[in-house]
Amino acid sequence: MGHLTNKLWAVVPAAGFGARMRSEIPKQYLSVLGKPVLVHTLERLASHPDLEGIVLALAEDDPYWPKEREQVDVAIPVTTVTGGAERCDSVMHALTALAGQASDNDWVMVHDAARPCVRNSDLRMLTETLRDHPIGGLLAVPVRDTMKRADYLGNVQETVDRAGLWHALTPQMFRIGVLRRALRGALDDGNQVTDEASAVEAAGLQPLLVPGHTDNFKITQPEDLALAAFYLQCQAAGQGRAALSGMDDGG
Ligand code: C5P
Repeated sequence: MGHLTNKLWAVVPAAGFGARMRSEIPKQYLSVLGKPVLVHTLERLASHPDLEGIVLALAEDDPYWPKEREQVDVAIPVTTVTGGAERCDSVMHALTALAGQASDNDWVMVHDAARPCVRNSDLRMLTETLRDHPIGGLLAVPVRDTMKRADYLGNVQETVDRAGLWHALTPQMFRIGVLRRALRGALDDGNQVTDEASAVEAAGLQPLLVPGHTDNFKITQPEDLALAAFYLQCQAAGQGRAALSGMDDGG
């Protein structure tokens, strides 16, 4: 497996609250298997051998991080910035902080704090697939259910052809210069993009979809915590088996 010729950085937007969790504590600080979701996420990202450092965007006056950071067992620097009103503002703040140390051609992987179950093998697949790409791309999975468009009362208006439809996951990985210009353009246009790829698309460029797996889901609702614990345990068990047999099972 070849290494990237340009440096690789990670940005983790973690400045949201996650109202749909109906919890007093923001969802990235809820515990799964004895560790906050965010700590799982940071350790997963940091396991990528090419990663230089992580910039974490936190809510202003986040009271949780100073205590939790002691639990984070990673060998690379984790620096923090204050996030913004929307996810795209938080990512922009992190990119601005990176500008001093990263070059425009370096890579940045933007990964939701609330996706702790991304597989190590999917992270490697993403970076390996994009290593010579001029722009970047994202992990995604094809839509598997039949898709309906509803009116505001919940009545079906039409069935949408699912051919060619994908769920956009994270990490979304772009050349830093491309992403900074695209996000700046989106923010200037008042276009509140919900992912990085949308900003890059609005700039007239075409990100590449890299097939990932559905265990890389975003914790959104209370019942998702048990699902995340289940996937993390399955992945750990798979890695244990793979280590014994000397094989990589993709966990
Ligand atoms: O709310 P949602 O699940 O879509 O948020 C996706 C990610 O963006 C989360 O990790 C959240 O903490 C982050 N976010 C942020 N700044 C905001 C809003 C969301 O960093 N203003």
